[in-house]
Amino acid sequence: MEHKQDQAFPKDFLWGSASAAYQIEGAWDADGKGPSVWDNFVKIPGTTYEGTNGDVAVDHYNRYKEDVKLMADAGLKAYRFSIAWSRIFPTGKGEVNEAGLQFYDNLIDELLKYDIEPLVTLYHWDIPQALMDEYGGWESRKVIEDFTNYSVALFKRYGDRVKYWVSLNEQNIFVSLGYSMALHPPKVTDDKRMYQVNHIANLANASVINAFHEIVKDGKIGPSFAYTPFYPVDTDPKNVLAAENAEDLNSHFWMDIYAWGVYPKAVWRYLEENDLAPTVEPGDMELLASAKPDFMGLNYYQSATAAHNPLDGVGQSNTFNTTGKKGTSEETGIPGLYKKVKNPYVKTTDWDWTIDPDGLHIALRRIDSRYQLPILITENGLGAFDKLEDGEVHDAYRIDYLSSHVGAIQAAINDGVDMLGYCTWSFTDLLSWLNGYQKRYGFVYVDRDISDDAPMTRIPKDSFYWYKKVIETNGKEL
Ligand code: BG6
Repeated sequence: MEHKQDQAFPKDFLWGSASAAYQIEGAWDADGKGPSVWDNFVKIPGTTYEGTNGDVAVDHYNRYKEDVKLMADAGLKAYRFSIAWSRIFPTGKGEVNEAGLQFYDNLIDELLKYDIEPLVTLYHWDIPQALMDEYGGWESRKVIEDFTNYSVALFKRYGDRVKYWVSLNEQNIFVSLGYSMALHPPKVTDDKRMYQVNHIANLANASVINAFHEIVKDGKIGPSFAYTPFYPVDTDPKNVLAAENAEDLNSHFWMDIYAWGVYPKAVWRYLEENDLAPTVEPGDMELLASAKPDFMGLNYYQSATAAHNPLDGVGQSNTFNTTGKKGTSEETGIPGLYKKVKNPYVKTTDWDWTIDPDGLHIALRRIDSRYQLPILITENGLGAFDKLEDGEVHDAYRIDYLSSHVGAIQAAINDGVDMLGYCTWSFTDLLSWLNGYQKRYGFVYVDRDISDDAPMTRIPKDSFYWYKKVIETNGKEL
């Protein structure tokens, strides 16, 4: 909709930035931490861009005070970070590692010292290797109890100071890249296993949300979902239907479960017809329906466009552009449902991700009307090659990207969408899982590339000062 004037951003809007433990902390085996699946996966030759890994990452574990001070300088109101499960329980369960708990105590207290609201993610993809070895991690229902116990330990320890929690980060991505495309651990290509893992992750998510509501009465919790809104390529009804299929299969299949505890009928039919449906045990659907998130966390990077794809049409591609060489992505689709095609109206990044701020507006409108939950944008940002020139980084392209996306949030607020906050991805540069350190997202440049033996100096980019102004004016000056 177009409006004659803008509505103000809510006065306590959470202007923030986000990160994940594996991508920033380093110190992969320090102070009693156990290995996670990512610590091992990245060491398998050929899995990541030029063999990069997060052993040292951007050394946030040792430099967290410097990083938080920079956040305060930028005027951040909120900071989203994840806790590494295997720092707290080195083998995933059993005896707690006090040094691990203490690290996050220190980080939380440092944030609160500057009035920065901590938003804690329970799980950002780094399940302890020990649970993988013992029972296959997310493939076993045993993980529900272990993930709940781990989460309860965090709620009890930090619940007095942390009021915003994210349960699972991008469940749709970690199950599909891990079990269908073999791009993440455990490197499997088996859709049947993927849907089973996904059902178990749904149950774990629900169990943790219920536990949270028992323990942290004045807090809010929700999942972070990677939503890529689909458009039909044109008005041919066949293509419109293809986009509906894509929405159901890629998005409603997760968000309907989070909000209502129900699988979309058409997807369930597709799973049954293809012998992909997970085993649902008595009590599962009741548990899923009982867990109500307080908000929908949205990770938005891009939109996608769908066209009709017959049963003998194009199938899934298990590759990604991880090099930053534009135009190297392959065509992909699900026969009988849809295929992804180019959208002539939007530009793309060097990694072939569409740049589409209207897509964010559309995503916010769709989530708001379908689920009627407040929305917390838990990630949004631009991965780009940045250049350090004479001690400065002039990232006008990032400012363009972010300001147009904040503009989309403004448009959604004008439409009446209930928004809690906006976390950019990311505050400092960090490890981009498969794409190494050359794909940068931060407001703060970190002087490192492939080699871990780097100065790691922190240098605020132009976008840092731009965001500071946005926060100061509560979104008025973009
Ligand atoms: C999200 C993840 O998928 O997107 C982040 O939650 C990730 O952890 C971000 O880094 C950007 O993706 P990428 O692959 O460019 O690092």
